[in-house]
Amino acid sequence: MGTGRVFVGRRAELERLLREARPASLRTVPVVVGPSGIGKTSLAREAARRLTGEGYLALHISVTQPVSSLEDLYRVLASEVGVSYSSLALGALRGLVERVLEAVYGSGWRSRLRDADALLERSVYDVLAEFFLELARRARRDGRRGVVAFIDEAQNILRSMEPGDIWGFVKMLASLQEELPSGDAAAFQAVLVTSEYGFQQRLLRHSPSPDYVDTFYLGEMTRGDAYSLYQALGERGPGTGERDFIECCVGGHPVHLAMAARRGLVDTVCHGVRKMQQIIVEHLHGLDEERRDEAGEVLRRLARQPLLRIPGYDRLLDGLVERGVLQYGCSSYLGVYDWNPDCTGDESLCGGGGWCGGLDVVAPASRMARAGLLLALGEVGALPGSVVDACGLGGVYPLAPGLP
Ligand SMILES: Nc1ncnc2c1ncn2[C@@H]1O[C@H](COP(=O)(O)OP(=O)(O)O)[C@@H](O)[C@H]1O
Ligand SMILES: [Mg+2]
Repeated sequence: MGTGRVFVGRRAELERLLREARPASLRTVPVVVGPSGIGKTSLAREAARRLTGEGYLALHISVTQPVSSLEDLYRVLASEVGVSYSSLALGALRGLVERVLEAVYGSGWRSRLRDADALLERSVYDVLAEFFLELARRARRDGRRGVVAFIDEAQNILRSMEPGDIWGFVKMLASLQEELPSGDAAAFQAVLVTSEYGFQQRLLRHSPSPDYVDTFYLGEMTRGDAYSLYQALGERGPGTGERDFIECCVGGHPVHLAMAARRGLVDTVCHGVRKMQQIIVEHLHGLDEERRDEAGEVLRRLARQPLLRIPGYDRLLDGLVERGVLQYGCSSYLGVYDWNPDCTGDESLCGGGGWCGGLDVVAPASRMARAGLLLALGEVGALPGSVVDACGLGGVYPLAPGLP
């Protein structure tokens, strides 16, 4: 989302995130996780913008690729994306990063920057620790209330790391959070954002203790937010004939809403569910026969309700999670089967995301994926008639032999 774009809804989710993102001298490192395209980056940037308005130095650091060279690291830390959501000017940010690299790597660091293969001698988190300290000193000098760093796609920082490195990374963030503010540095808080469920899992598994990691799951927008976004993007709300399509196959998924608003609802849904169907059928055919039946049975149940995660399912379904057809989610804010409740009073129960114990269930990653599951399993009857008719799904074809 560019700076000029609108940010719609997500009121309860933003409040919940902000509450824990303000520095509070606690060791807990929050990790925001949820399906791809659900709005994690948008939410993090909006939070950074809001915190900047409250007097914090807030930065959104976007780690778009694995960091293995000095140049990668420089690019990640000194990027325009981060500063556009903070009160820091790009020049000031670059100056700060340069000071840190000079302190860590000595005065020769600049010549090594041009050598794209110059690997990092020190671990990334050593450099990050220096960078955050420097940010905190600057914040103190500028009279800011503290530093908040959103590290987006944080798994990329630790891509090639051993469990011990994850331990060290979390410990580093936690001690910066606990020890600051000091005489010359302001308080600090990190927030990790990731689209990789395995990363959240590894953080929990390899942290010094469970106290170090808190999970913030972002799921579908509420119905109210979804309709507002559809209207904001397409200049009109959904008509009555369109609601079946949204209910069935779009829901509160921002990317699907944007596609529907721009390309048309019917095309988006009809193409989307068939694409999902194809991915699912290919996944099933990649399994050996015995596991295919087992996976088919699990998928049939998943089309109706989320299932508690057990390792056996992960083995059968990981491929579909990686391809964004299934997700590991937090049952309290799942959406996908039913809309999350709109905020009409009881703030504690509304909205499509918030803190939860962890990713306890497996479910379709979106309503489109859920419809694709039904289609792949030959259960067209479970889809709304209007969708079946408009997409020409009614001429039920017999399943190919070998499919569950
Ligand atoms: N609350 C929102 N208001 C407006 N647009 C949104 C909102 N959330 C997501 N979007 C749009 O949906 C798309 C995907 O959002 P993004 O934040 O990149 O998701 P993620 O980081 O979870 O993959 C972007 O184009 C973004 O502009
Ligand atoms: Mg993102």
